[in-house]
Amino acid sequence: MLPAAISPSMMCADIFKTREIIDAFEKTETEYLHIDVMDGSFVPNFCLGTDYCRRLKAGTSIPLDIHLMVREPVKTLDKFTFGSGDMVSVHHESDSKENVLKALEFIRSKGASPFIAINPDTPVETVNDYIAAVDGVLLMTVYPGFAGQQMVPGSLERITALRSLLDESGRQSAHIEVDGNVNYEKAPLMRKAGADIFVVGTSSVLGEGDKAENMLKMRRLLG
Ligand code: DX5
Ligand code: ZN
Repeated sequence: MLPAAISPSMMCADIFKTREIIDAFEKTETEYLHIDVMDGSFVPNFCLGTDYCRRLKAGTSIPLDIHLMVREPVKTLDKFTFGSGDMVSVHHESDSKENVLKALEFIRSKGASPFIAINPDTPVETVNDYIAAVDGVLLMTVYPGFAGQQMVPGSLERITALRSLLDESGRQSAHIEVDGNVNYEKAPLMRKAGADIFVVGTSSVLGEGDKAENMLKMRRLLG
């Protein structure tokens, strides 16, 4: 089993306490900062953008985990700041397979780690089309676009099925990142099912309470 990594969803962070929150994540050796980017078309919402990523990279050494919930990502990727150590996810549902593969190739060419994201109603077998081009899969456990939702039923079984698919394809080192309603009760179940990167938002670490303590609590639960 791959070691657990935690990626707090910065769309859930109190904007008036961003520096304090990032200091807490640096102190607790948080592996990534999850940046939700939305275009109002692929998902009916807007969120964080190119300037936010650029400023974040200038202000912290924590790698970025950029989640592009945008149509035709290959046309916008060059506007973002990312490189070695960062992760960038594009959605299977966002463009043709050929263009999504081009987007993944571009991410890799910038030295970052390409991930394919799939929505809750996309069959996990879809990943087979991208398996050679990615370092992992972002498996959505809610429908993308909004924080504070409930996990879609059947998500745990999907994580297990995806882990088997990757392992049977010889991709034991490929990551499974889960995103949506990763709370203190569900995170250990997701871990047991086969996930190794956890996007945490209002459901847990970026909810109420001290962020460093919340992070350490989540770390203990994930083992
Ligand atoms: C939803 C976002 C998630 C979300 C996680 O589209 O991708 O990152 O912010 O927040 P919670 O934990 O509230 O589901
Ligand atoms: Zn996300």
